[in-house]
Amino acid sequence: MAVVDELLLLKTKALNDIAQAGDSAALEQVRIGVLGKSGTLTGYLRSMGQVPQEQRAQVGKTTNEVRVAVEAALEARKAELAAVELAAQIDASALDITLPGRAQQMGTRHLISRITDEIAEIFLGIGYSVAQGPEVETDYYNFEALNSPPDHPSRGLADTFYVRDLSGEAAAVTGESDVLLRTQTSGVQVRVMEQQKPPIYIIAPGKVYRRDVADPSHLPQFTQIEGLVVDKGITFGDLKGTLDYFCKQMFGQDRKTRVRAHYFPFTEPSAEVDVSCGICKGEGCRFCKGTGWLEIMGCGMVDPNVFGYVGIDAEEYSGFAFGMGVERIACLKYNVPDLRMLLEGDMRFLRQF
Ligand code: DAH
Repeated sequence: MAVVDELLLLKTKALNDIAQAGDSAALEQVRIGVLGKSGTLTGYLRSMGQVPQEQRAQVGKTTNEVRVAVEAALEARKAELAAVELAAQIDASALDITLPGRAQQMGTRHLISRITDEIAEIFLGIGYSVAQGPEVETDYYNFEALNSPPDHPSRGLADTFYVRDLSGEAAAVTGESDVLLRTQTSGVQVRVMEQQKPPIYIIAPGKVYRRDVADPSHLPQFTQIEGLVVDKGITFGDLKGTLDYFCKQMFGQDRKTRVRAHYFPFTEPSAEVDVSCGICKGEGCRFCKGTGWLEIMGCGMVDPNVFGYVGIDAEEYSGFAFGMGVERIACLKYNVPDLRMLLEGDMRFLRQF
């Protein structure tokens, strides 16, 4: 076959291969096969010297025409494939803006935190400030300086979580410890009076721990808010007025309060405060066990013995203290029948507040 015919055949085959190439990679293979270092057309260009003189012009011209045609076809097909590939890429990464969005679940504050803040706000509004003490407390602050004698039942190993240093000799020898998980926030009273001169108007929120099995009205760990006022001329009337104001702010202006004589080691006299039942308005119902009243806190006038521990002159100053359970207040406010519901983490329940 004449060289020129071979070239024309090569051209037909090359153009056909180019048209058949399905993607850029296949097209590149075709280009290398024809125009690459050892490509078919390159071979003809290289061996031009061996073509007889009289055919050279014709072969040279044809070779060149084939090269131009192949190059043009390659360019055109390359652009075509690039467009197809880009379109496919865009399709694959397409964002379907008609899909509904995924709702973000917003967290909320837990009811106990919210009620704690609500109570704090009421007292901050009448000039109190917030004090804090450690949850791991010593026997001295939790009991002794609060006028609780060593034989007081709440100090029993069975009623309190004692913290022991297991590596320490002392704890192992005596079997007892002076360090415990506080059973009440009342110890903060002592810490504040040690550090601060009267006038003192503080509340102290925080966690407390009891060796109680959880039931509808007991939790082994709960939140208390302690209150302490020490100033000149503070009377039981101030205590009643303050707590009545607090209850009305917290539960509503229509709620009544009453104080009942009670006993606490660190106050004298001591009392428990009841608020009228919000469900039956004091008539008596199941929620208030037929009494019309709900107990919400303990309180009393600071015992002079407690002042003695912290070096405050009981002749010059007097004061009152109170302590309430936040979980209990939350349940009373929202008529929740079981304290444990607050701790279960059931979002269907918690989201209501
Ligand atoms: N700490 C007491 C308790 O846990 C509550 C209490 C009663 C606190 C009387 C007081 C108070 O400050 O004066 O049961």
